[in-house]
Amino acid sequence: MYTLKQKNWKISENEITSENLFNKRRDFLKLGAAALVSSSVVAEKLAAVESVKRASLDFKKTLYGKDLELNSFDQASTYNNFYEFSLKKDAPAKLAHTLKPNPWDIEIHGEVQKPMHISLDDIVSSYPLEERIYRFRCVEGWSMVVPWIGVTLAHLIKKAKPTSKAKYVKFTTMLDPEMFPDQKRGLFGNIPYPYVEGLRIDEAMNDLTFMAVGMYGKILPNQNGAPIRLVVPWKYGFKSIKSIVSIELVEKEPLNTWKLINAREYGFYANVNPEVDHPRWSQAKERKLGSFFKNKTMMFNGYEEEVGHMYKNMDLRKYI
Ligand code: MTE
Repeated sequence: MYTLKQKNWKISENEITSENLFNKRRDFLKLGAAALVSSSVVAEKLAAVESVKRASLDFKKTLYGKDLELNSFDQASTYNNFYEFSLKKDAPAKLAHTLKPNPWDIEIHGEVQKPMHISLDDIVSSYPLEERIYRFRCVEGWSMVVPWIGVTLAHLIKKAKPTSKAKYVKFTTMLDPEMFPDQKRGLFGNIPYPYVEGLRIDEAMNDLTFMAVGMYGKILPNQNGAPIRLVVPWKYGFKSIKSIVSIELVEKEPLNTWKLINAREYGFYANVNPEVDHPRWSQAKERKLGSFFKNKTMMFNGYEEEVGHMYKNMDLRKYI
């Protein structure tokens, strides 16, 4: 087991009581006094507020998305899909304090010459972290623009030396009912666990495919998939699996969770495509979080130049 070394996670005094946190604490105290709530409820709410503390990361800024207008940290961290906690978008931010992202061990294995275990600390200390601003588009029709911090997935995969049989990559989220309350509910849970996702090997090695360990300058909030999650900006958001513990190189296409649940509505590829509607939602337009008006959805979420070549000979109506 590997643990995080403090040196990589510098928390300075002003970050501990950032303006944002200070205001939230003040608002909370006002709210608490007015409502005269019980001390256990106060403790629980304070724990949620305290989880706003996040350590800063050292990273290099890049040109990716430099002209995009960012969503705010509050928007990106309080409107989440994380079924291990809840189906409600505002719930993960309140409940995700049960997720313990340290220590954390990720296994890279399967069709590789050098199977390995790496910790978050290894990633942070072995690779220069970079910031990439990407568009993020959910299949439900909302979108946002987020400054992620991390490394390309290709960096990690190359280290394990894939064999010629490695045609796909299968990702798996942590299975731990103590950390993820919905996993305790077994067959009555929101979805089957653990959450699984997959990419074709060329998609996994594409320069845009990113493993994020942070956002907005600091480590990931739990509700956004701490300590490490995938970000595949030209695909619908459900491909961006959170809190990953296993990266397995495999020969056959893995069955991803949403395809397992409903193969008519969700496929393996899930490329953002304004011309192929989801059976329940038109994909022609999208609403950016915080915007009143909708915008036209862009093919491959605006990343056609970088990724279009990978799907040249594929019928994208069939391979949803
Ligand atoms: N990963 C896990 N383990 N569990 C989930 O429920 N939801 C997916 C994806 N990754 C999900 C997940 C969906 S549907 C979306 S849209 C994105 O996470 C949301 O990421 P965000 O909360 O950071 O916006």
